[in-house]
Amino acid sequence: MTTHPHFKYVTDSQVTITELMIPAYANFGGKIHGGTVLSLIDKVAYAAAARHSGSYCVTLSVDRVLFLHPIEVGQLVSLKASVNYVGNTSLIVGVRVTSEDVKSGKIWHTNSCYLTMVALDDEGNKQQVPGLKLRTEEEVRRWYEARQRRQHAMAVRKEEATRESVDIAKARELATTERCLIELS
Ligand SMILES: CC(C)(COP(=O)(O)OP(=O)(O)OC[C@H]1O[C@@H](n2cnc3c(N)ncnc32)[C@H](O)[C@@H]1OP(=O)(O)O)[C@@H](O)C(=O)NCCC(=O)NCCS
Repeated sequence: MTTHPHFKYVTDSQVTITELMIPAYANFGGKIHGGTVLSLIDKVAYAAAARHSGSYCVTLSVDRVLFLHPIEVGQLVSLKASVNYVGNTSLIVGVRVTSEDVKSGKIWHTNSCYLTMVALDDEGNKQQVPGLKLRTEEEVRRWYEARQRRQHAMAVRKEEATRESVDIAKARELATTERCLIELS
């Protein structure tokens, strides 16, 4: 793998997309479908990751998605994506989602989430991404927090790789203390 000689500013790859929420995006309850928002999050994160890396990227994970406030049909949704952290071949992109009532101008923060994207070359092999240059305290805070989340994710990955298979007898016992009935045939 070739070592990437360049560093890029966070602002070089920041992307904002704004989309009007139309009735086709609504769920049975009349609010905007969570899947619609997730699709927009994935798109904007891809755009920021591809801009930073200068290559095609794939989504490895979407972490900590919380829907903090429902989004209504007719609202304008804005999604701002910033590269928070770069590893070797992976990037962590933070996405902040807001919705706006166009009549009143009132704005709600509806989501924040983090995606890990991996850069691929034209042959589909992982490739190193440019380094990241930080020039505000906010960028440093986001970098530091993203680094901590990544370390946590790595520890979980390691633990999962060595996790013992499920002990059915123990699960049966645990289920009696919770709202679960195990009825194995
Ligand atoms: C993403 C993909 C290329 C990773 O390939 P891989 O060989 O398993 O990856 P690796 O173990 O070498 O890890 C690649 C990078 O991701 C990071 N990574 C892997 N697992 C991780 C995890 N659980 N959390 C955070 N980062 C992780 C690694 O640290 C590495 O980053 P680095 O190079 O910056 O250190 C591969 O899993 C893939 O193609 N997945 C499908 C992606 C896709 O189709 N997405 C769309 C879904 S519809």
